[in-house]
Amino acid sequence: MTSPILLTGGTGTLGRLVVPLLRDAGRELRVLSRQRHEPGDGIEYVTGDLLKGEGIAPAVDGAEIILHLAGGPKGDDEATRNLMRVASGSGVRHVVLISVIGSDRVPLGYFRSQLGAERAVAESGLPWTTLRAAQFHDIVLTMMEKMTKLPVIPVPGGLRLQPVDPREVAARLVELTLDKPAGLVPDLAGPTVYGMADLSRGYLRARGKRRLMMPVRMPGKAGRAYRAGENLSLDGATVGKRTWEDFLAERVRPGR
Ligand SMILES: NC(=O)c1ccc[n+]([C@@H]2O[C@H](COP(=O)([O-])OP(=O)(O)OC[C@H]3O[C@@H](n4cnc5c(N)ncnc54)[C@H](OP(=O)(O)O)[C@@H]3O)[C@@H](O)[C@H]2O)c1
Repeated sequence: MTSPILLTGGTGTLGRLVVPLLRDAGRELRVLSRQRHEPGDGIEYVTGDLLKGEGIAPAVDGAEIILHLAGGPKGDDEATRNLMRVASGSGVRHVVLISVIGSDRVPLGYFRSQLGAERAVAESGLPWTTLRAAQFHDIVLTMMEKMTKLPVIPVPGGLRLQPVDPREVAARLVELTLDKPAGLVPDLAGPTVYGMADLSRGYLRARGKRRLMMPVRMPGKAGRAYRAGENLSLDGATVGKRTWEDFLAERVRPGR
């Protein structure tokens, strides 16, 4: 019998894809969630909140590996520090973190908090692995769904994305989790770099909709960083296979 893997964020978009892969690998799983869940399918749940610092000790107790995927728009640095404070004094032998490409280059709060989370893991004294991934197809789809509610789609000039399929991110994370701690590993990005107009056109085509597009300029330091491609990983990244078009063909139907 092996010690459980503590999976934070196991109820999220990425975490739900990781769960069956770890179970298929024969691993015992403990999922930390802010909601109460009944145990089932070989998964134990611990109720807790990383940002409030609640329920962390019982979640970490006896775990051998932590796969830390919990995250939100704000506070991931603080949440990760809270988790690492408890984990540092435990028998954990590997912490694996998901972060975002550009965490060290894009001057926006979300990216800064991802970098803060990376630092909390690297400075915890525990052996670690961090994977920076590009935006998942799902989040780009959510952006597109919101923007097509508007009569005219704003298209920030110079903003490019390299969206990646979260199933490929999940598979890579499982591989890293079951391997030796490796520090900061090569980024994982999608196979194609798209401008926002290309992403919007692909989505509109898949939905069978038409919209006018209006170029807008992103102001400030963040705009400059995006125009310089600081959110992209063009050299040395591992590149996924599934494109935005593949994802749209699977998930989006005309008129829906
Ligand atoms: N989405 C992307 O494009 C992308 C790209 C690169 C990296 N990432 C990173 O990947 C991670 C997962 O993303 P996702 O898209 O799967 O997120 P998601 O679908 O929004 O899920 C967020 C997960 O985090 C948990 N969580 C949030 N706040 C928490 C807290 N205070 N305490 C404990 N658990 C908390 C949620 O659990 P409960 O609701 O059950 O509590 C949920 O399982 C995030 O760290 C994100 O920054 C995302």
